[in-house]
This record gives sequence, C-alpha cells and structure tokens, in this order.
Amino acid sequence: MQLFIDTADIEEIRCANDWGIIDGVTTNPSLMAKVGRTTAAVIREIVSIVDGPISAEVLATEAKSMIEEGRILSQIHKNVVIKLPMTIEGVKALNWFSKNGIKTNLTLVFSPNQALLAAKCGATYISPFVGRLDDHGHDGMELIREIRTIFDNYAFTTKILSASIRSTLHVREAALAASDVATVPFKVLKDLYSHPLTDRGVEAFTSDYKKVTTK
Ligand code: G3P
Repeated sequence: MQLFIDTADIEEIRCANDWGIIDGVTTNPSLMAKVGRTTAAVIREIVSIVDGPISAEVLATEAKSMIEEGRILSQIHKNVVIKLPMTIEGVKALNWFSKNGIKTNLTLVFSPNQALLAAKCGATYISPFVGRLDDHGHDGMELIREIRTIFDNYAFTTKILSASIRSTLHVREAALAASDVATVPFKVLKDLYSHPLTDRGVEAFTSDYKKVTTK
C-alpha cells in the first residue's frame, strides 16, 4: 500500500519525505486554510520536494469553472492530480479531465455507488473518507472493503485512496482491506513507527552491550 501525507504544511512534508516513507501528498481547502496560503503557492513548493502524485483541490462548484481551475493547477507540474468533489458537476469535470489525460482524485466519497460512478468515468483515484463515516456511527472500513470488491469485480483501474485517516488502526485496516493508498496525517505517520516493545528492546540491547564494552 502506498502512503501519502495528508497536509499542506511544508515542514511536515519535508520531514516525512526525509524519512523516505511517503509516495505522494494530498491537500484540501481546509488544510490550505490552516497554513493560510493559496493552493497554487503550496502546490508549487510541494512538487519541488516530493516526486510523486500531489492532489490539489478545486474550489469551484460548477463543471466549467472546475475545468478552468483544474487546467491551471495541472500546468504547475506533471505530478499534480486534480481533486474534484463527488457531485454531478464534479463528475462532469472528471469526464473532461479523463478525456484530456489529466489525473484526478474524486473526493468526499461516502458510498460504493459514488465510487462506481467515479471509476466508470475514469478517475485516477477516489477518496473514501473513513474517519468521517466512523464519526457518524458507520464502519468507514466497510466502505473500503465494498469498493475493493466492486473495483475487482470489474477490473477498474481507479485506485482506492483511503482518506480521513485518524489512527494507526485505520492504516492497518486499510492495508488489510487492500486499499491502494492511504493518505495519513503527519502525527499518525510518526505513530506508525512506534511500539513500546521496540523501545524497551532497544534500551535493553544498548545497556547489555555497554556491559561488554566496559569490561
Ligand atoms: O484529504 C481529506 C481528508 O483526509 C480529510 O480528513 O480528518 O478532515 O476528515 P478529516
């Protein structure tokens, strides 16, 4: 499973990229608002750090304006993926981007049928929001499993990008459900490394070996 970082914070991206574990980046308007910068400015900086797919979300709500906005963003770099909302207008725009060979990520996916429509129209990625479903008393991971079955049934090449990941458990479950990608916040990426038994083991090995070297 590929790991993307879900942030617009350049320092977090730089750090996770240095760790050597990330394959791409996803952003959204709320993440841009957090850092107080425009999408174009942030995306221009990210493409110079990470060599992989970088999702940039359009703000427009009508297909024509989404296409105009997405075209401009796609010209920033070949790795830019245009993120579109899973609406009738978003899917209209998706058709245009698919025909013109521009990569897309259909976001705010909450049902298998939405994923099916996006895949039929050639989306490169779909982003089911696992955590937000959990927040509403649903099993977010069940959505990933159902979409996996549908995509495999029909050999759709659209990639499942599990989003709204809130914990290391989500990452583990996404991998078990054969999600193609999980986009993960910085803190959760960091948490993936840790286990108390690893820390205890490192401490024990270090202090045991000191006994040998100080003999
Ligand atoms: O990129 C979209 C996404 O991952 C949102 O996460 O935590 O705001 O539901 P969250």
